[in-house]
Amino acid sequence: MKRTHHCNELRPAHAGANVILDGWVHSRRDLGGLIFIDLRDREGRTQTVFDPSELPPALFDQASHLRSESVVRVSGTVRIRPEGTRNDKIATGEVEVLVRSLEVLNTAEVLPFSIDDPEVANKVNEELRLQYRYLDLRRPEMARNLRTRSKVAIATRRYLDEQGFLEVETPTLFKSTPEGAREFLVPNRRDPGTFYALPQSPQQFKQILMVSGVERYFQLARCYRDEDLRADRQPEFTQVDIEMSFIEREDIYALVEGLLKRVWKAAMDLDIPAPFKRISFHEAINRWGIDKPDTRFGMELVDFTETFRASAFKVFAGAVASGGVVKAINAKGMAGATQGQIETMTDHAKSLGAKGLAYIKVEGGEWKSPIVKFFTQAEKDALVSGLAIEEGDLVLFAADPWLNACEILGKIRLYCADVLRSQGRLSFDPRRFDFLWVVDFPLLSFDKEMNRWYSSHHPFTAPVAEDIPLLKQDPRQVRGQHYDIVVNGVELGGGSIRIHQPDVQRTIFEDILQIPPDETRLRFGYMLEAFKYGAPPHGGIALGFDRLCAMLCGTSSIRDVIAFPKTAKGTCLMTDSPSPASARQLRDLHLEVKTAPPKA
Ligand code: AMO
Ligand code: AMP
Repeated sequence: MKRTHHCNELRPAHAGANVILDGWVHSRRDLGGLIFIDLRDREGRTQTVFDPSELPPALFDQASHLRSESVVRVSGTVRIRPEGTRNDKIATGEVEVLVRSLEVLNTAEVLPFSIDDPEVANKVNEELRLQYRYLDLRRPEMARNLRTRSKVAIATRRYLDEQGFLEVETPTLFKSTPEGAREFLVPNRRDPGTFYALPQSPQQFKQILMVSGVERYFQLARCYRDEDLRADRQPEFTQVDIEMSFIEREDIYALVEGLLKRVWKAAMDLDIPAPFKRISFHEAINRWGIDKPDTRFGMELVDFTETFRASAFKVFAGAVASGGVVKAINAKGMAGATQGQIETMTDHAKSLGAKGLAYIKVEGGEWKSPIVKFFTQAEKDALVSGLAIEEGDLVLFAADPWLNACEILGKIRLYCADVLRSQGRLSFDPRRFDFLWVVDFPLLSFDKEMNRWYSSHHPFTAPVAEDIPLLKQDPRQVRGQHYDIVVNGVELGGGSIRIHQPDVQRTIFEDILQIPPDETRLRFGYMLEAFKYGAPPHGGIALGFDRLCAMLCGTSSIRDVIAFPKTAKGTCLMTDSPSPASARQLRDLHLEVKTAPPKA
C-alpha cells in the first residue's frame, strides 16, 4: 500500500478510480449515519466518506472516534459529489473518496489550538504558537510562507548562478570584531580565556574572497547579532550576501533590480518596474524625516524656516537664529487626535531632543492651538498654502537643528500613518511596492558623547573618489559609496563599494576612526595584509532574506517566515533555549558563572 495521489489532486476525471491517500484528519463531521473526514496533506484537502453499509462495523467505529490531526491512510473509490454538496473553496471540491479501508498511522491528542481556524494568529497568543511551532507550521498560512521562502531561495540561487556567481560558505565560528551590534561569543575549550564570535555578517570573508580572485560571490548567509529585537529583527537571521570585483555602484543596482524582479515574479507573479527610483540621503531626510521612507503616502515635511525667521513666536525664531530650521507636516483629518495621542507624539519629539511639540488643530473653522496668537496673517497664509490646510487637519511643527527637526517629524509622520491605518482611513494595496535606492550617505557620522567619528555603514565603505581629499579637512562632507534598498519604508538591504587600497583603509581606521594602531593590527591586520597582495576594486550588498520573504508573504513580522524563530527576549519556546550549562561543561570550558541562572 502506497499513497497514489496527494490531497489536492483528485478531480471529476478521476471518478471510479481506486486511490490511496495519506494525511492528517483535518476535520470530522458525523451526518445522518455517514462520517465525513477531510483529509489534509501538504498540498491540500480531500473529503473522504465512511458509509456503514460499505464498511465492517469495527472500521466504521474506528472512524467515528478519530481525533483531529491523527495521521491516517485511507483507500477508496473516487466519486463525484452529489449536486448541492460541492465545495468550490477547495480544488478537490467536486469529488470525494468513498472509503474502503482505513489505517490509523498515529493518533493525536487534543490540540492546544485549532489548525483549521484562519483566525488563530489573532486569537491565540504568539507564545503558544511558538511553543507548539510544529503545529503552527501545519496551519495553511504558515505552510504557505515556508513554501514561498523556499521558492525565493531557489529563484535567488538560480538567478545568481546565471549571472556567474559562486556560492561559497564562510565560517560561523569567527573572530570577535567589536563594532556595530553586540556579538555572541563562543568559548574555546582548547585555550582558556579565548573565544570565537558568531559573525554579524560575512563582510570580511567576502572581501577576502575578492582578494582570492572569486570575482562573484554569494551566500545565503546566517548572521548573528545580539541586539534588541523587534518584529523585523532576530538574533539570527539570513542575508542574501553578495560581493563582486571590478564593478561600480551601477552594476550592483542593475544586479539587484534583476534579482528582485525575478523573485517578485516567482513568489507573487508580479512584474515590478525597474530601474528603481534613486534619492539621496539628504532628500530622504529632508522630505520624509527618515533614511528609509515609506513613499506610499504623502504627509511630507515642509520647510518654513524663512517664514518664521523674524517671527514673534520666539520658539521658532530662536531655533532659526541658532542655525536650525522650522518644519511642519499636515496630518490630514487628524484634528480629532486624543490627548493621549498628542502626548505620545510629544514624547517622540522629546526623545529626539526637542523641548516640545507645537501643533494646530483645525476644527469648527478655527485654528485651535496655544501658539497661533503669535502668528501674523502672512505667517498663517504661508502655512495654508505650503500645507494645503483644511478643516479637520492637524499640523505639527519641529523647530530644531535640521537633522533633529526632520527626524522628529519623520517619526511623527509614521505614528500618524499608523493611527490612520488602525482607523481604516489609510490603506495600501497589498501588491504595491515602492522600491527606492537611497544613496549618497555621509561616510561618517559624529558621536557627540564619545567625541569621535564612526562609520555610517561600516569602516570598509569607500568614500566617493572626489571627496577623498576632504577626509582630513572636513570629514562631515565626505560622501560614502554606500547604498540602501528600501521598500515601503523597510530597509531591505544595504551595501557599498569598498576600500581596496590598504593605505586608505589604514587612514580610515587610525586617523578617522581613531582606532589605535595595535588594535587595528589585532582586529583587522589580516585584511590589511591581504590587501597588500593585489586586492581588486570590489563592492557588494546584503539583502535581509527574512525581510524579503516577509514582504512577499504579506506579513510585517519576520517571525512568520522563519521556521523556528526566537521571541523578543531571544528565547526559543519550543526547545526552551538558552538554558544553563552543566558544571562539567563549564569546567571543560574554563568558565565560572557568577550569577546563577534563573530557575526554570
Ligand atoms: P547591514 O548590517 O545593513 O549590512 O545588513 C544588511 C541587511 O540585513 C538585514 N538585517 C536583519 N534582518 C533581520 N534581523 C536582524 N537583526 C537584521 N540585521 C540586519 C536588513 C539589512 O538591510 N555586511 C553588510 C552588507 C554589505 O555591506 O555588503 C551588512 O551586514 O535587511
Ligand atoms: P514654550 O514657549 O516653551 O511653552 O513652547 C510653546 C509651544 O512650542 C509648546 O506647544 C511647545 O510644545 C512647542 N515647542 C517648544 N519647543 C519646540 C520645538 N523645538 N519645536 C516645535 N515646537 C516646540
